[in-house]
Amino acid sequence: MDDDLLAGTRTAYDAVAESYARMLPDTRYEAALDLAMVEHLLVRLGPGAQLLDAGCGTGRMLTHLTALDPTLRLSGVDLSPGMVAVARRAHPSIDLAVADLAALPHPDGELDGVMAWYSIIHTPPSALAPLLGELHRVLRPGGLLLLGYQAGTGHRVIDRPYGHDVELGAFLHHTPYVCDALLRAGFTVDTVLDRGAREQERHPQGFVLARRPYPAGRTGSAGQHALHHRLGVGAAHPVAEHPTPRRRRGGR
Ligand SMILES: C[S@@+](CC[C@H](N)C(=O)[O-])C[C@H]1O[C@@H](n2cnc3c(N)ncnc32)[C@H](O)[C@@H]1O
Repeated sequence: MDDDLLAGTRTAYDAVAESYARMLPDTRYEAALDLAMVEHLLVRLGPGAQLLDAGCGTGRMLTHLTALDPTLRLSGVDLSPGMVAVARRAHPSIDLAVADLAALPHPDGELDGVMAWYSIIHTPPSALAPLLGELHRVLRPGGLLLLGYQAGTGHRVIDRPYGHDVELGAFLHHTPYVCDALLRAGFTVDTVLDRGAREQERHPQGFVLARRPYPAGRTGSAGQHALHHRLGVGAAHPVAEHPTPRRRRGGR
C-alpha cells in the first residue's frame, strides 16, 4: 500500500487514540446483527482458539471477545502506536504489537482465527490483495477470517475524526469485490452479510467470514460452489473446507 497513505492513517490514529477510546468504549454502536457475526466466528472456532484482532485499535473488541469467551488465546496488532498504547493499558496481559496488516510478525499458519473489524477501511480496494495474502499466510489451514467494513464504493473523508483536526480518509468496500479478492488470495467464502445503513449510519455495512481451506483433495465442498455461484464471485473451483473426518473405531 502507498507509504504516504499508511503514514497518514498512523498519524491520524495516534492523534485521536485517547478520544477514540472515550467516544467508542465498547460495542454500543454495533447492531446486534453485526455482533452475531462475531459470535458466529467464535462458535465456528471453538473454545481455546488462537485469535488475532488485526487492527485492534484501542482494544474494545478484545474486551468484547474476552467477555464472550474467556478461553480464547487473544492477541492484537495495529498500525498506530498510540492506539496500541491505549489497548495495552486496558489489556496488559494480551500480546499487542505495532504492525501493518500487510506485514504481520507471525509465523506461517500460526493462528486459528483473524478478525479484521473495520481495519481494512483505510486500505484502497486495489491494495486489498497483499493484505489478504498476509492474513491467509498467518492462518492455519482451516483457519477463519472475519472482515467488517462500511460497504459500497468510493472514498470518504471523515470530518473532524473523533473531534480532532486531523486528516483521515476511508474507503468503502464492495462486498462482491471483497469476496473475489478473498478467493484470489486463496480463501473460500463461508458467510456473507451485507446490511443497509441504520438511522445513525451513513453507509451499509458488510461482513464476510472466510476460511483458509485445507489442502485440496482432503474433501470437497458442494456448499462452497453454491455460495460462490450465488454471490457471482470467482471461478467456483473445488475447494476443501473440512478435513476428511476420521472414522472412530467402533463408530458408525
Ligand atoms: C476504525 S478503527 C477500528 C479499530 C478496532 N478494530 C475497533 O473496532 O474499535 C481502524 C483501526 O485500523 C488500524 N489500521 C488501519 N490500517 C491498518 C493497517 N494497514 N495495518 C494495521 N492496522 C491498521 C488503525 O490504526 C485503527 O486503529
